[in-house]
Amino acid sequence: MTGFNRGHSPLVYRIPRQEDGPQIWQMVKDSRILDLNSTYFYLTMSRWFSESCRVAVDIESGNLIGFVVAFRQPERPDTLFVWQIAVDARYRGRKIARRLLDEVAGGPEIRFVETTIAPSNFASRSLFLKWALSRESSAVLCSGFGFSEDCFPGNEHEREDLYRIGPLGEKRDPRRRCMDESRD
Ligand SMILES: CC(C)(COP(=O)(O)OP(=O)(O)OC[C@H]1O[C@@H](n2cnc3c(N)ncnc32)[C@H](O)[C@@H]1OP(=O)(O)O)[C@@H](O)C(=O)NCCC(=O)NCCS
Repeated sequence: MTGFNRGHSPLVYRIPRQEDGPQIWQMVKDSRILDLNSTYFYLTMSRWFSESCRVAVDIESGNLIGFVVAFRQPERPDTLFVWQIAVDARYRGRKIARRLLDEVAGGPEIRFVETTIAPSNFASRSLFLKWALSRESSAVLCSGFGFSEDCFPGNEHEREDLYRIGPLGEKRDPRRRCMDESRD
């Protein structure tokens, strides 16, 4: 699917291919904020989990400039877990991340989106809250359901708080409901 922005080069949003894996790895590395997994991991996601991932490509340059890596939870296939999302720094502020979330969670089979966010990642929290508002669903932080510092060796990683958004398409105030109340 192609997206045009006035004054900007057009982008295409598509399902990743195996050969996108190394570029996704490079983007994660360049972000300097995301946990860098192995190239093998991104190859695997691009090959076997591609249906639940998306990339944004600048049509003019052919460069991959954004991605979202996600998977449908095996025990709850209506729930999409967003592992990582990033946009090239030169392309930020153009609602590309929001569009990537629209694309990856747009199907009727997805009723909930979950992700974990470190407390210091304000941009990420803001992104998911804005997106939840745009989807007229609920997004509330419930601490304790993510990963505490103790889960990470050497306590060198901030805790990760779990956010749950949904049910998608149903209008609610995203600040009012507790996440575990929205589980059904
Ligand atoms: C977070 C990130 C993906 C946002 O990408 P983006 O394409 O610039 O985001 P969008 O333009 O779609 O912004 C959507 C909303 O996110 C929020 N947002 C995005 N960047 C923000 C920032 N730097 N500070 C505060 N809020 C921000 C805003 O609420 C924005 O809505 P608005 O434009 O109506 O104000 C991008 O900054 C990034 O790649 N960061 C590094 C990687 C990362 O932290 N990923 C998230 C954790 S996995």
